[in-house]
Amino acid sequence: MTRHQIQIDGTDVSFAAAADESILDAAARNGIELPYSCRKGVCGNCRGQVLEGSLLAGTAGGSHETGIRAPNEHLFCRAQPVSDLVILPRSWHRIDPDARKTLQATVFRKQSMAGDVTLLHLRFATGVRARFAAGQYLQILLPDGQRRSFSMANPPHENDGVQLHIKHVAGGHFTGEILPLLNRGDVQQVELPHGDFWLREDSERPLLLVAGGTGFAPIKSIIDHMLKRNIHRPVTLFWGARNPAGLYAPEIIQRWLRVRPQLRYEPVISDRVEGSEWNGRRGLVHEALLSSYVHLAGHDVYVCGAPAMVQAVRSACVDERGLPSDQFYSDSFVSGPGS
Ligand code: FES
Repeated sequence: MTRHQIQIDGTDVSFAAAADESILDAAARNGIELPYSCRKGVCGNCRGQVLEGSLLAGTAGGSHETGIRAPNEHLFCRAQPVSDLVILPRSWHRIDPDARKTLQATVFRKQSMAGDVTLLHLRFATGVRARFAAGQYLQILLPDGQRRSFSMANPPHENDGVQLHIKHVAGGHFTGEILPLLNRGDVQQVELPHGDFWLREDSERPLLLVAGGTGFAPIKSIIDHMLKRNIHRPVTLFWGARNPAGLYAPEIIQRWLRVRPQLRYEPVISDRVEGSEWNGRRGLVHEALLSSYVHLAGHDVYVCGAPAMVQAVRSACVDERGLPSDQFYSDSFVSGPGS
């Protein structure tokens, strides 16, 4: 099979890629993680520049335009090499290829949270522990070969299992057909950890955490981790949902506010809710951010939610409020009929 050499500009790091694999997959196979989230050509997180060489853009479905801002930018989850390449990703780091594991997990608890969100608590076999960073996600491996991605809501020190917040998707294969039939003791295969959305602990900047819907799950992992590790960086949490029921974990927020009263919590509702006693903010999360901050250059911003929300928040923070783009971290999840 034809293989091409892909070099990261300005470094001596290069890796081989088959002609039929994406740049993102080839990098990961060689122990190099580039930014990504959806892997479906939807979120734009994997975009980067191609400085030399040619490629086949936009393979295997999905858009090839999301978040693209320059002619030489491409989505590395979609693009396949046609020649040797020199690329300039937005960031990269080495990963330990042995760190990602496939584990058997049994259903320990399945419980409805507020709204249409289910808490699925899976536990590993006695003595088995998972390694992940606060904010990362796993993939459930389905018997037919499909995969579903969910962020861990538990912090890394609670590593004998995983807690997932799963929103029901109308017509969804997993949430509509598989999840309802899962019972305590049923076995699922999971692969973890995945993703480059994790708390960077070498920064002391104030944190602005932004969640949309079940994008709250990795944010919860990050905050619980900070509490456990006594990390006292100032934290502001914006949590957006269509209606109050979508802010499905009020008891968790109350617990945090009891132990860390300095935490600033800003719930935001986007739907008009007639007759509601809602006293919080209304509108879209990025609008709430814009009305709350004049400058964000001194912050680190972590955002998890649907791609449109993440893009809107990124634009608000980076383009309009001066946040350096390397202080913006995001995880976009894509819901659809397969979910
Ligand atoms: S568009 Fe490539 S990871 Fe989302």
